Amino acid sequence: MSADPAATAAQAVRICAADDLVDGGAGVRRAARLGGGDAVVFFVRYEGRAYGYLNRCAHVPMELDWAEGQFFESSGLYLMCATHGAIYAPDTGKCVGGPCRGGRLRPVQVEERDTPEGRAVFWLPDGELHPATL
Ligand code: FES
Repeated sequence: MSADPAATAAQAVRICAADDLVDGGAGVRRAARLGGGDAVVFFVRYEGRAYGYLNRCAHVPMELDWAEGQFFESSGLYLMCATHGAIYAPDTGKCVGGPCRGGRLRPVQVEERDTPEGRAVFWLPDGELHPATL
């Protein structure tokens, strides 16, 4: 039997309204659990698409945003770790400059769906990294 679509839908976590994520603008943070420890994931929009990552630099395990929700550097083209300036491609999470070279952000699965309350961004958690409220 194929997977029950209703069960799959039940696992998706609504993060915010689609309009809340502006291209190259502020991100939305969400408390998470990773391997039994506390973590934060974040969601941003880049070139029209929503992306989500674990909020943890590939260089040293620190959160990226110097001011809450500020993940993009000033050009709006790259995600930046405020601590030592690592920059990441927003669509792949790959480090493209700075001390994280060769590393990448840990992605989470994101989907945009139409709901009765309007279009919204959902996080599809996996077994290892999931919302803190689960
Ligand atoms: S901790 Fe992120 S650049 Fe060093």
